[in-house]
Amino acid sequence: MTIIEVIDLSHRFVDGTQALAGINISIQRGEFVVVAGPNGSGKTTFFRHLNGLLHPGKGSVTIAGVPVHKDPVLARQRVGMVFQDADMQIVGETVYDDVVFGPENLGLDRGEIERRADRALAAVGLSDLRDRRPHLLSQGEKRRLAVAGVLAMQPEVILFDEPFSNLDDSGVCQVLEQMLSLHENNHTLLIATHDLEKVIYHAGRLILIDAGRIVQDGPPADVLPEVENHGVRMPCALRMGKEVPSWLTVP
Ligand SMILES: Nc1ncnc2c1ncn2[C@@H]1O[C@H](COP(=O)(O)OP(=O)(O)OP(=O)(O)O)[C@@H](O)[C@H]1O
Ligand SMILES: [Mg+2]
Repeated sequence: MTIIEVIDLSHRFVDGTQALAGINISIQRGEFVVVAGPNGSGKTTFFRHLNGLLHPGKGSVTIAGVPVHKDPVLARQRVGMVFQDADMQIVGETVYDDVVFGPENLGLDRGEIERRADRALAAVGLSDLRDRRPHLLSQGEKRRLAVAGVLAMQPEVILFDEPFSNLDDSGVCQVLEQMLSLHENNHTLLIATHDLEKVIYHAGRLILIDAGRIVQDGPPADVLPEVENHGVRMPCALRMGKEVPSWLTVP
């Protein structure tokens, strides 16, 4: 079943930058999609349209049949986004305050807010740090806190914008583990990155975006051979082996 439908989406910023040009895409419930493209190709701008932070200059975005511009608040509940810069997403004085911020804004009752916050913190393994000031967290913990804040909103779709940037190995593993568990729990995931190495082996679909256009869209095994033509590095292992292994082909 289709959860996200994007038709002929274009976006030009006020300074004249054409960030997106004629994007058409349909995402099914439960998909695990990687959106790759070089710096400035439009990944973040595209994601911001999916949860109503930006409105289309032209074209349309619908989430579960509802146009995002008609109900941006609903879109933000259905589609959560973990920002590229974890610091930008921190709003609370403590880890706990940060996670309850979203549910409080939904106007839920106190018991439900607390249940959601407890569950979200447990899911990302931050329950023990609930009273800590967010700015004192490590980069990996900050990103997990951002994930908790998104989980507390119980969105169906979760967008991760460059989720591995500034993380050490253990941070990368923790975030990856989060993603896999969310996917197992039937969330639809879209991951924007120019670094395919860490995540591509888990994805069922790879969308390549270049200069605001979708230039490739398909199973990773089909799209990977094209990535270097569009400024995205091939994962090391594949570069060395040259051929895309058959187990990477999604049936
Ligand atoms: N607020 C803005 N005003 C004007 N131009 C912008 C604005 N935000 C982004 N852009 C431009 O739009 C284009 C797409 O930017 P976007 O941030 O979506 O790219 P990206 O693929 O996410 O890049 P990165 O990999 O560096 O995060 C770029 O040319 C960028 O400079
Ligand atoms: Mg970006």
